[in-house]
Amino acid sequence: MVGETIQSNWVGRSVPRREGVSKVTGRACYVDDLSLPGMIHGATVRSPVARGSVRALRFDDPSIPWKEFTIVTARDIPGKNVVTLIEHDQPLLADGVVNHPEEPLALIAHEDKYLLERARAAVKVEIDELPGLFSIEEAEAKRHVIWGEDNVFKSFQIERGDVGKAFAAPGVRIVEGEYRTGAQEQLYIEPNGMIAQWSEADGLTVWGSLQCPYYVHKALTPMFNLPDEKVRVVQLETGGGFGGKEEYPSMLAGHAALLARKSGRPVKMIYDRAEDMVATTKRHPSRTRHRTAVTADGKILGMDIEFLLDGGAYATLSAVVLSRGTIHASGPYDVPNVRIRSAALATNHPPHGAFRGFGAPQSIFALEKHLDRVAAAVGLEPEELRRRNFLKHGGVTATGQVLKEEPGLNALMERAMKESGWAEKRERFARENPEARVKRGLGLATFMHGAGFTGSGERNLASVVGIEGLADGRVRVLAASTEIGQGTNTIFSQVAADALGVDFMDVEVARPDTKFVPNSGPTVASRTVMIVGKLVETAALSLKQVLLDAGYEVGDVREAVRRYIAERGPLKVYSQYKQPPGVFWDDKLYRGEAYATYAWACYLAEVSVDTATYEARVEDFVAVQDVGKVVHPVLAAGQIEGGVAQGIGYALCEEVVWKQGRMMNGRMTNYIMPTAADAPPIRVFFAEHPTPHGPQGAKGIGELPLDGVAPAVLNAVEDALRDLGGGLKFSSIPLLPERVYETFVKGGLA
Ligand code: MOS
Repeated sequence: MVGETIQSNWVGRSVPRREGVSKVTGRACYVDDLSLPGMIHGATVRSPVARGSVRALRFDDPSIPWKEFTIVTARDIPGKNVVTLIEHDQPLLADGVVNHPEEPLALIAHEDKYLLERARAAVKVEIDELPGLFSIEEAEAKRHVIWGEDNVFKSFQIERGDVGKAFAAPGVRIVEGEYRTGAQEQLYIEPNGMIAQWSEADGLTVWGSLQCPYYVHKALTPMFNLPDEKVRVVQLETGGGFGGKEEYPSMLAGHAALLARKSGRPVKMIYDRAEDMVATTKRHPSRTRHRTAVTADGKILGMDIEFLLDGGAYATLSAVVLSRGTIHASGPYDVPNVRIRSAALATNHPPHGAFRGFGAPQSIFALEKHLDRVAAAVGLEPEELRRRNFLKHGGVTATGQVLKEEPGLNALMERAMKESGWAEKRERFARENPEARVKRGLGLATFMHGAGFTGSGERNLASVVGIEGLADGRVRVLAASTEIGQGTNTIFSQVAADALGVDFMDVEVARPDTKFVPNSGPTVASRTVMIVGKLVETAALSLKQVLLDAGYEVGDVREAVRRYIAERGPLKVYSQYKQPPGVFWDDKLYRGEAYATYAWACYLAEVSVDTATYEARVEDFVAVQDVGKVVHPVLAAGQIEGGVAQGIGYALCEEVVWKQGRMMNGRMTNYIMPTAADAPPIRVFFAEHPTPHGPQGAKGIGELPLDGVAPAVLNAVEDALRDLGGGLKFSSIPLLPERVYETFVKGGLA
C-alpha cells in the first residue's frame, strides 16, 4: 500500500499561485472577456414594487424598434418555471405575481447594448400593488401571510439537558439580551455574468462567473426539459464569490439560456454593479434573543436562545443558512442545558442567501456580545468567564457531539491576549480613558466554525474527484471545485504533488466544466481544502497504487505515468467521499456530529471611539486560529486578513438602506465598505493540530474569519466607553456613528 506517510514537500510552502501569472498579465478570461460569433446582449425587466399582481407588460414605446428585439416572458419557458434549489418556490420569471422588488418579469435581447438599456427603461410594467412584509417582526406577527401558513420557511429546535431546571436552580443569575445584525452585500470585484448558447444538436452550454457548476446544471435541466448530457456548464475565471455566486448564477444562466433559445444566437448577460447590488442575494438580517443562567462563580448552567432570520421572498438557501447559524449559536462552550429555537421567515425583500459564514456570523455575534454581559453580571473579566466554560476534549456540544479532539481554546485566547498586550492595555486604557476625548478599548470573541456540509450533508453529496495521467507524465486533477480567488488550484496542486511525490508544476487542475469533470460538490461551506482536498489526496494515492499494481517503479512517478500511458493507454482514477466510521447524525432530532471537525479561534480587537465625532475605529486586530495544517501560508493569511476586513465592514459601516423592500444605496459610493485606508494592522497567527479528516491534517478556513470580528469589535467599543453613564450598550450592527450618537443621547451624554 502506498501513502502510509506523505512527505510535505509542497504543502506548507507559499508556492506561486497557479493562475497568478495569467491574472496579473491580463490573459485570464473572465466572462465579459469572452465573445462568441453572432452574440447579442440580454437584459432583465424587473419589478418596481415589492408585492403585487402583474396586470400587463407593454412593449409599445414608439421610440424603440421592438421588432429587432428578442422578448422572453414566463410563457417561453419550455420546462418548469422554477429555480431548483431546496424548495421549488422561486420562479425563473414572475408569472402573474411578484414578491420582491427587482423580481425578474421579462427578458429582452439585442445586439446593441446601449439601445438595449433604453428599451429596458421603456418597458411599461403595470402592477396592482399588495401590502408587503419588511421586517422580522412584521413576518412574525403575520401581518400578511405570504408563505405557507405562518411565513416560516424553516424552523429548528435543538435541546440538550433541561433548560427549565437550569433556570430554576438556586442562586443562579439570569442574564437576558437581544441582538440584531443587518444585511450585508458580498461585493465581489466581478459582478454576476453569464453567456448561453443553444443548439438543437448539442443542447445548452453556459459559461459564467460562478461557484457551483453542478448546482447550475441541476437547475437548468428541468427549466428546459433536457437530459443531463444536453446541458453543459463551464466556469470561467471568477472574480470573487463569498457565497454570492452559490445560487444566483442558476437564475442568470436560466435567463441567458431562454434568450439564446428564442433568438437562436449566443446571449451574454452581465450585471453592472448597481443591478448586482439591488437584485442579487445578501447576508440574512437577524434577531437573536438570549437568556442565560449562570452561577455566582461563572459556570453557565443554561442557555435559552431564539434565533430568527429574514429570509426574503423565496426559500432559496435559508433553511441551510439557518441550520448552520443554529448549530453555532451556543458557541464553543460546554453548557449542560441548552435550548435553541430558530426560524427563517418570509418577507418581501429580495431573497437573502449564502454569504461567507452562512448564518454563523449572525448567531455568533449575538452570543459573543452577550457573554460579555454575562461576565459583567457575575463580576468576571470577559476572558475568565469564557475560560470557565470552554469546550474541552470529551466535552459535549449543543447537538450532543462528543469532541474527539482538544480545541485548545484557552491556549488560543492566551496567545491573542499576549500578542495584543491585553493585560497592560486594559489597565492603561482604564486609567487614561476618563480624561481622553478619544477613548480606547479591547474586546474579544472565541468561536468555532464547522468544516464541510452540516450533518449528513457530505454523505448525501457523495462527492467525486478524479485524477488523470497525461502523455508527458504530468497529471491533471478533475474536480468541479472552483477557483474564485481563494486558491483552489494552488492547494489542489500542492496536495496532489505531495501525495504523488512529483513536482508542484507537474500537476495541473482542469477547468470546472460539467462535460469533463466529476461532481466534487459545490465550492461552499469551508469544504474545499478539507473535504475535496482529501479526495484529491486519496485519488492521487490510488493513481500511484494503479502504477504499482501494474508493475511500474514509483520512485519517479512522472516517468511511470509516461510509460504507463505509452504502453497501456489512458490512466484515470476517481475517489468518492465516504463518511468516516463512527459519525452519527439524526436529521429529525438534529442531534449528533454536526461536523466532522471544527476550526477554533480567538479574535481580539483594539478600538478607538471618538466622543466628539461618535466614530469607532479598529486600531489593531489579532486573529489566532487553529486550522489543523496551514497548506499555503500566504493564501491562508490572506483568507484571514480579507475576512477580518469584511467583518470590520459588517460591524461598523456596511449598511443596506431599505425602503419598502428595496435597497436604496446600491452603489459603492453610498454602501460603504472598508478600504485599505480603513484597515488596521491585521495580525494573523496559526496553531496547527492536524485533523485526520483533511489532507495532511488541514481543516476549512474560508468562512471562519467572518464569525468572530463583529462581536470582538463591539465588545471593544463597550469596553472603551464603560466609564460613561454607567456603561453604554451596543447590541446591533452595523454600528454607524449615527447609532453611537443615538446611544449617547439615550444615556443623557449628548
Ligand atoms: Mo458559502 S457562504 O457556504 O458559498
